Amino acid sequence: MTYLSSPVTVLAPATVANVVCAFDVLGFALAEPNDVMHLRLTEQPGVTIINEDDFGLPTEPGRNVAGAALLAMLRAVPEAPGVEVRIRKTIRPGSGIGSSAASAAGAVVGLNHLLHNQFTKVELVDFAMAGEEVASGVRHADNLAPGIYGGVTLIRATVPAPDIVPLDAPPLFVTVVHPQIEVKTSDARQILKRQVALGDAVRQWANVGALVAGLLQHDYALIGRSLEDVIVEPVRSILIPGFREVKEGSRAAGALGGGISGSGPSLFMLSQDEATARAVQAVMQDTYHRLGLDYHTYLTTINPTGCQVLTDEPLTT
Ligand code: HSE
Repeated sequence: MTYLSSPVTVLAPATVANVVCAFDVLGFALAEPNDVMHLRLTEQPGVTIINEDDFGLPTEPGRNVAGAALLAMLRAVPEAPGVEVRIRKTIRPGSGIGSSAASAAGAVVGLNHLLHNQFTKVELVDFAMAGEEVASGVRHADNLAPGIYGGVTLIRATVPAPDIVPLDAPPLFVTVVHPQIEVKTSDARQILKRQVALGDAVRQWANVGALVAGLLQHDYALIGRSLEDVIVEPVRSILIPGFREVKEGSRAAGALGGGISGSGPSLFMLSQDEATARAVQAVMQDTYHRLGLDYHTYLTTINPTGCQVLTDEPLTT
């Protein structure tokens, strides 16, 4: 089979996993920020990684998130060509907005395009989970699936194969603050309790069900009521300075609710309108200014399409 010889550029979006109550199960894609990845096929087999940022990530394919995802995908292609990927990350590793997932998702979406889109989205999630395994030791898909499908996705299962349920959602504004500390997903998973009290489990799955219903019914009040986590947040929030102030201040400013983005340290809040999302951003800025901690905020929306493939952009930027 002949494959595309011209390079592609992929915009790979940041994502918010867990969505407060749905640990490892729900996630959504953000319109901003995005990593930029350039991919091209090579005659030399294997994967070549070129980093175009200052994060110092490994370039050895088996130890690189994008590389591991690409290797998994190439293993499924008969007479596979090689692939070179140049990566410019703007999503800081360890930020909690799906940095590793953006690398893995962007890589497999880009290579799939070069291979004439022979794989389905669910297959791409499966390949990309090899990248998440390199990053955190766990094949979780709650950042990858929204990164690949766009919008909000529910991950019903990851084994024996990913079972992804894309969900409709009403228009939502998302305010994110990234306090400039690093929380490794592997560490943030390690500290979680292995056992859950039945009463907490009941409350949690009631919230997950109600959140899904709120999204599908475009019921903003129900979405807000369901953004409650009695299992993971009480443990992880201890790692995040300013957590309580941001959460309470944002609710007082009119946010529907929110909490830790993925494994943190970023926090996200959902709002029904842009003015509220701006007021929430001010709460976040005031909090970290007062704490004397560097931070970065994003005021954005849900990205409905996930990774975007640009074929006509010049290779060099
Ligand atoms: N569901 C994962 C976790 C997301 O919370 O550990 C990591 O971004």
